[in-house]
Amino acid sequence: MDKTKILFVCLGNICRSPSAEAVMQALIEKESLEHKISIDSAGITGYHAGDPADDRMQRHAIQRGFHLSSVSRQVQSPKDFNEFDYVIGMDNQNISDLQDLAQNQNHLAKISKMTDYCTRHNNTSVPDPYYGGAAGFELVLDILEDACEGLLEHIKNE
Ligand code: 4NP
Repeated sequence: MDKTKILFVCLGNICRSPSAEAVMQALIEKESLEHKISIDSAGITGYHAGDPADDRMQRHAIQRGFHLSSVSRQVQSPKDFNEFDYVIGMDNQNISDLQDLAQNQNHLAKISKMTDYCTRHNNTSVPDPYYGGAAGFELVLDILEDACEGLLEHIKNE
């Protein structure tokens, strides 16, 4: 069977979506599912294209054992919608922007929000931590650890 391909998307692709990618990759490796699931991340904007993840986000992530190695890139439509099975935004604005970028019903059907997969947190978005303090980065990781577990279960049950 083909691999399930997941694209995580946030605004800048330097905080939330690279973290989602690292948290999900750790779960995939823990369960030896590398042959079944592949992941990537991208930003609605290309403002940070070519940049590594935000230093603050990297520091908070590494404290939990997650190494953020991805380099920022912008979402490409229709290429990304054609390539990935799941296109997962972090907040309502990401979802709205992705819906604007989608070119057909098949693309639209691939879009979901990260918090839809949470089982322990009732947050309805992964809040943008960029202009806030340490607590915002910790909250991002708390929500993502929950959501990635739920997402993996969802994919396993497909
Ligand atoms: P991200 O965070 O969308 O989680 O990567 C942000 C990164 C950069 C900016 C905003 C949010 N920015 O305005 O440059």
